[in-house]
Amino acid sequence: MPRAATDSTSEPMLVEDWDQLTFRVNREAYRSPEIFERELDAIWQQTWLYLGHETEVPNPNDFKSRSLGGRPLIFCRDSEGQVRAWLNSCPHRGTILCRENEGSSRRFQCFYHAWTFNNDGTVAAIPDVEAYEDFESLSQSMMLRSVPRLEIHEGYVFVSFNPDVPPLLEHLGDAADYMTMIEQQHACGVTTLPGVQQYSVRGNWKLGVENAMDGYHFAPTHNTFVGYLRETGFAVTDEGQYAYNLGNGHSLLVLTGHGGRISMVWEPRFGEDERIRTEEHRAEMVERLGEKRAHYVADESHILFVFPNLLLFDIEGLSIRQLEPVAADHTKVRAWQLVPREEDPAARALRMKTVVSFVGPGGLATPDDIEAYEAVQRGIDATAHERRAELDFSDMSRGMGDEVKGVQGRSIDEGAMRGFWREWAAVVGGDDYVKITGERPAEFLEGRDVR
Ligand code: FES
Ligand SMILES: [Fe+2]
Repeated sequence: MPRAATDSTSEPMLVEDWDQLTFRVNREAYRSPEIFERELDAIWQQTWLYLGHETEVPNPNDFKSRSLGGRPLIFCRDSEGQVRAWLNSCPHRGTILCRENEGSSRRFQCFYHAWTFNNDGTVAAIPDVEAYEDFESLSQSMMLRSVPRLEIHEGYVFVSFNPDVPPLLEHLGDAADYMTMIEQQHACGVTTLPGVQQYSVRGNWKLGVENAMDGYHFAPTHNTFVGYLRETGFAVTDEGQYAYNLGNGHSLLVLTGHGGRISMVWEPRFGEDERIRTEEHRAEMVERLGEKRAHYVADESHILFVFPNLLLFDIEGLSIRQLEPVAADHTKVRAWQLVPREEDPAARALRMKTVVSFVGPGGLATPDDIEAYEAVQRGIDATAHERRAELDFSDMSRGMGDEVKGVQGRSIDEGAMRGFWREWAAVVGGDDYVKITGERPAEFLEGRDVR
């Protein structure tokens, strides 16, 4: 559809009215190619990005090729065991160096002129090298280009294209401990299973964030799943479920009524054997972590969003989801399963069955979510040329009254999305992107005492 001739990037993207208690998002934010370009510069080029999990490259020489914000990368463990992220681009003349999705190799050879590089970045061989006067200085200047920053927290590997980005733990803030809680679920720690689920969605990446932070859609969109849970004897409730803004654009849903958790919260559909395993595991956790921490690690389901591209679903099973923006209306999603490093085979089989039945790409949740995600993208074109700007905004006002009162927002309200959008607007457009009427309350950030 042809775009309106106005420069949409200078209009306010968020309109907050604290007298009327309304919060609206300009739909250009989901469809404008100019805004998409700005995001790549202001977010993907600047902050920490989730690259992958350390256990995806468990052995020296393992590698995966992957892209972040459209930039092709090689994610590998070098021969000495160090985790690396190289730009997947031959220093000679720029060809994609590694063309396999994954494998194990000490060296990467470019197919164009056959220059070869060791997985620590050094030049291994250049054909007909005599034609160069000074091989030493040539090979020094022709090393693989590393991503400027790489840091790892609890096995989650993050990179940044910005050499001056603050330390990873500073960026993660309160989100870091929720990642630790996943690691603490099992004394043996967790690992990714080999294989990645990849799918592509005809929708803006921010709709993927909204969907994950949106407890409001759960009952209507996933009514088949809710019906299935009821039929198998599990009561579903929205009571006592909260949404937290963790700062820096990160957010968290704490869910206690959406189903069981393999090896931690039993429900009838898991069967009798799992009930016994769950009791034993719980006793082990209490001993290892103490009663209080074990309660938070085991009894709550968490959906954690780490700005801008990581979603951790710590629910029935454990899933990592990475958002890769391709265009304003196109996103690639990659998903991995995390499992305990050691697990009873029957428990593993049940875990996998449960995971694929809900969050997997053919499960009872993800297809519904993608349908919603794509339907929003199609629907927002209906108002694309609407000159009355107030008609071209999406509403995210639910629960603003609680925000004014400083009451903790519920998961079925839209506070987690508002936190995300505020960070997004501040980073991408600054003050120009936000129009505030009345007095915006101070950000309600209350740390949770989970230790
Ligand atoms: S571009 Fe890679 S060897 Fe020439
Ligand atoms: Fe959903």
